[in-house]
Amino acid sequence: MTTTKTVVTLKVNGVERTAEVEPRLLLVHFLRDVLGLTGTHVGCDTSQCGACTVLLDGRGVKSCTVLAVQADGHEVTTVEGLARDGELHPIQEGFWEKHGLQCGFCTPGAMMTAVELLRQNPNPTDEEIREGLEGVICRCTGYENIVRAVKYAAERMRG
Ligand code: FES
Ligand code: FES
Repeated sequence: MTTTKTVVTLKVNGVERTAEVEPRLLLVHFLRDVLGLTGTHVGCDTSQCGACTVLLDGRGVKSCTVLAVQADGHEVTTVEGLARDGELHPIQEGFWEKHGLQCGFCTPGAMMTAVELLRQNPNPTDEEIREGLEGVICRCTGYENIVRAVKYAAERMRG
């Protein structure tokens, strides 16, 4: 059986990218396998781990739950798009300064989730950070330092 491919055009990290994809291709596989943006991780096959989180039109989504064709015409930001002009994003600085990672597998998804959280709530309490990061599973259980990293970023972003 042959599958008809569809052309999609997305703005990814500010750059327009066009490709022919199968209608069933997930956004996470489009990012990783078609565009080579392997910073977005796949940690489960049950939509639970959050390692695949990216921003779709500025909102955090698990990219394993979105088809590439659904993102056609939209804007995606991945972890590769956080740093600007060689300057780390405050959330990246936070993870660096507060040792917010161990093996690093959950880190891209945790950072993208945190960016979304801080967009909605620039001054979160520890409790609110924990709630906001509920969808991110860290197998190294480094949650304490992830909370500290997000707090650090929140302070930096509020100036
Ligand atoms: S890979 Fe998407 S939630 Fe786990
Ligand atoms: S740092 Fe290892 S899974 Fe989170």
